[in-house]
This record gives sequence, C-alpha cells and structure tokens, in this order.
Amino acid sequence: MKGSFFRGTTHVCDYKYQKSFDNWLRRLVHPPQKVLGGWVKPGMTVIDAGCGIGYFSLGMAGLVGPGGKVISVDLQDGALAKLEQRAEKSGLDSIIETYKCEADTLGPLPKADFALAFWMVHETPDAGNFFKELHSALNRNSYMLFTEPPFHISKKRFEEEINLAEQAGFRFLGQPKIRFCKSALFERP
Ligand SMILES: C[S@@+](CC[C@H](N)C(=O)[O-])C[C@H]1O[C@@H](n2cnc3c(N)ncnc32)[C@H](O)[C@@H]1O
Repeated sequence: MKGSFFRGTTHVCDYKYQKSFDNWLRRLVHPPQKVLGGWVKPGMTVIDAGCGIGYFSLGMAGLVGPGGKVISVDLQDGALAKLEQRAEKSGLDSIIETYKCEADTLGPLPKADFALAFWMVHETPDAGNFFKELHSALNRNSYMLFTEPPFHISKKRFEEEINLAEQAGFRFLGQPKIRFCKSALFERP
C-alpha cells in the first residue's frame, strides 16, 4: 500500500511511518490511564479501530487486564503483525486479538463495551458506515471516543464527523481535552 505520514495517495497512514508518533514520547503526551482510564476498566472488552502498530491497544490491554480483551482492527497486515510482536514482547498477547478489516468495512467483530478510533476516522472512505458498524459492535450503554489530528482536520470536517456518528445512533456527550487532538465522546444508548 502506498502511503505517507497522514496524507498520501491512499490517505492511509502507512504503518512503516507510525514509529514516528508511536514511541516513548507518546507515553508522556498520551498516557493511556489519563486519556482512557475514565471509560476503560478492568475486565472490559474494548475495540481499537484503526489500531495501527498498537499504541492504544497495548495501553488498553494494561487497563482491561487479564480478565478483559482488546479487539484491535486495522486494514494493514503489517500494522497488525507489528502489534502482535509488541504484544508478545510485553506479555499482553493473551489479551489482544487482531482483526484484519477492509477499507470499506470493519467486518464482523465481537461485542464490546467501549470503542476507540484514534486519529483514523478521516482515513475511512465512508465515515457514516464506519460509525454504523462501530455502533452495532457495541453493547448498550457503552461509550465510543474518536479523535482526529488537530491541524489538518478542519473544525467543519470534525463537526461533520460528529453528525455522522449521531446519525449512526450515538449520543454526543462532549469533547474531552486530549493533547494534539480534536476529540468527541459518545454514548451508545
Ligand atoms: C494515523 S494511524 C493511527 C494509529 C493508531 N490509532 C494510533 O493512534 O497510533 C491510522 C490507522 O488507521 C488505519 N485505517 C485507515 N483506514 C481504516 C479503515 N477504513 N478501517 C480500519 N483501519 C483503518 C490505518 O491503517 C492506520 O494504521
């Protein structure tokens, strides 16, 4: 797949570039407990949609613990392979399950209690369908958080994405402050 850092011919962030933002510095900028600890609890099953090489999959595996599950979904085989390596190295491989999807569909996923889509909605060809699929993968009374990179996703585009999530059945709860992100939190009623 031909790609680049965020922008590219396919608009998909190539997994080979992801070490430039999935590294030790990210743990200072986006500590998983601080960013997600309000919604991700021990024993939960959670989805990391567009997980890439797995920064938040690994982080959420730590939060859900051995009694929970992280469903990590991406369309790049290379990203999932890298995540599997990292999960094994960190002893988190029994918690993380990887799923290869296609650009236009996440495919069938196990039911979950929380879904994260971090810096990836703008890469999907049909954000409306993406949110519908995420909605059906979630249990009632669960939460969904999506974030977008702050600079190249305009306010208007971000608001359009929020509208699409609402049209898919999510209830908008607000915009939690997360560094280097436009973010939106929803309930799946
Ligand atoms: C900018 S990276 C972010 C990776 C990760 N979420 C993070 O925060 O480090 C975006 C990821 O979304 C994935 N992606 C893009 N379009 C997708 C789609 N339609 N379905 C699933 N994953 C997708 C890409 O393959 C890429 O790994």
